[in-house]
Amino acid sequence: MCGIIGYIGYQEAYPILIKGLHRLEYRGYDSAGIALINRENNLSIYKAKGRVADLEEFSLGKDISGTVGIAHTRWATHGEPNHINAHPHYSQSENLALIHNGIIENYAVLKESLSRKGYVFQSDTDTEVLVQLIEYIKTGNNTDISTAVQLALKQVIGAYAIAVIEKENPDLIIAARKSSPLVVGIGKNEFFLASDATPIIEYTNQVIYLNDEEIAVIHRNEPLRIVNLSNVEKTPQITRLEMSLNELEKGGYPHFMLKEIFEQPRTLRDCMSGRVNTGNRNIVLSGIVDHREKFINCRRIIILACGTSWHAGLIGEYLFEEFCRIPVEVEYSSEFRYRHPVIHRDDIVIAVSQSGETADTLAAIELAKEAGAFVYGICNVVGSSIPRNTDSGSYTHVGPEIGVASTKAFTAQVAVLVMMALSIAREKKTIPEKRFLAVLSELSRIPGKIETILQQNGYIEDLSKIFTYAHNFIYLGRGYGYPVAIEGALKLKEISYIHAEGYPAAEMKHGPIALIDNEMPVVVIATDSTTYDKMISNIQEIKARKGRILAIVNKSDCKVREMADYTIEIPDTEECLSPLLSIVPLQLLSYHIAVRKGRDVDMPRNLAKSVTVE
Ligand code: M6R
Repeated sequence: MCGIIGYIGYQEAYPILIKGLHRLEYRGYDSAGIALINRENNLSIYKAKGRVADLEEFSLGKDISGTVGIAHTRWATHGEPNHINAHPHYSQSENLALIHNGIIENYAVLKESLSRKGYVFQSDTDTEVLVQLIEYIKTGNNTDISTAVQLALKQVIGAYAIAVIEKENPDLIIAARKSSPLVVGIGKNEFFLASDATPIIEYTNQVIYLNDEEIAVIHRNEPLRIVNLSNVEKTPQITRLEMSLNELEKGGYPHFMLKEIFEQPRTLRDCMSGRVNTGNRNIVLSGIVDHREKFINCRRIIILACGTSWHAGLIGEYLFEEFCRIPVEVEYSSEFRYRHPVIHRDDIVIAVSQSGETADTLAAIELAKEAGAFVYGICNVVGSSIPRNTDSGSYTHVGPEIGVASTKAFTAQVAVLVMMALSIAREKKTIPEKRFLAVLSELSRIPGKIETILQQNGYIEDLSKIFTYAHNFIYLGRGYGYPVAIEGALKLKEISYIHAEGYPAAEMKHGPIALIDNEMPVVVIATDSTTYDKMISNIQEIKARKGRILAIVNKSDCKVREMADYTIEIPDTEECLSPLLSIVPLQLLSYHIAVRKGRDVDMPRNLAKSVTVE
């Protein structure tokens, strides 16, 4: 939920850390701070409420020299987002500085005990408790910083990725993780550490993803050491990054979100590349091939996810039930983990997550594994925690998604679910070959069809002017259009702050219809489907109450366009693939409305890209 970064080497740390913070800002942007040790061994901390740019302004004219430092961009959990609660935090003596991403759940008990020993706290954060605890152990046991961190972390309950520096030890950074991500980059005579690899890639492609309860002892002129909390030495596993720097830039677009919407034809091609083969009429997902029997014989599929990924999961439910005839439950990870779910050993759990770091999904996976289920991950971020904690899985391969509102990750998650459903159905012989081939070949045409939708960007931008001042929206869909409706509503509310509700269209008359009047825009997903005629009846009901209708229709549609106030056309396609097309104009509509309202589209208020806390 926060972004952390560190540097030790021969270069000036400040510019590297600031640039890295900008890359990590999507993870939280309530405040930012930096700690540096200069050549005279002074340990300075500079912090500012707000964005990294505010920190840069605050640091002007200050001593920002030094070749070792740590920095943080915060999404507030404990304590309001102000300057005092910003990280890094000093220990009482100001000899140590620490940054943290996660939550120390037992911080209150630890704080009380330290207070009784005379420790005084400046902030309301759980993090300050940890740095004080490390100092207390270090001085009390007369031990080195690495041992003090180990001993302190043994007392901690919760999630953490931390980095600590010590004034008297300017050649050393100690970093550790549990349930929050941390990557160490290995350069030539220099080391980097960060919450993800994006700040590291321009300096080195050699990284080590720390595992839970591992501590990295990063010494300026020595090889990296990794130990666990019991001081047992671990062999560092070096991974080569496959990311390119261009993927981290806006590439001429005003926002990452718009760039990512426009990337979808390419990202879907990448996602399907080597998997969908129209030539030999096959789909090959290695995760399914390797576990064929499990998928054929499974009793039930449980899909676990949060937010947009949960919406993709709902589409997965429709796909698996339609094609594979396997019963499916789609669960919010946060609900599943606390409601004593019944999990069988022959259930398959599919965890869907862009970041691969969502805390609730990770916890729900653990629960499923303990019950003996086979767990499959659909994730985007390579090397993240979910792929490392699942039995098998498929990456979505869309490259870094930086806009907080998920767009290209969603369409790729749906594409992976389509590929999974089709290949399992073929193995189970629950899909006629002709149908399999028809959907397969249409799937390969989807990227091209998205390109034609994107050509309507100017028209959708014009349409957005009509709706910019609406206070509420309703999004309605049925069948495969229902998850699209709730995803469209989520996109609008999270970036424009307009209240929007997504609903199954037929459920409208059981309550929400009371909301409809001549001021209420109603977005209907009215593409060709088995419930198309029923949808027309629902549109009549809205019209009768003077609701303003914006309909997503197929190119071949003639009935709905007669009734709707405004329409956006998408190409005709197979019903089961329609979400891959119908979501695109809704992404654009939300984007343009948010821009017109002057919102910070890529970093909407109160949100962060990956939710690594409960
Ligand atoms: O990284 P994940 O896919 O696990 O994240 C889940 C949600 O936090 C995420 O989809 C969130 O809802 C997005 N902001 C939606 O645009």
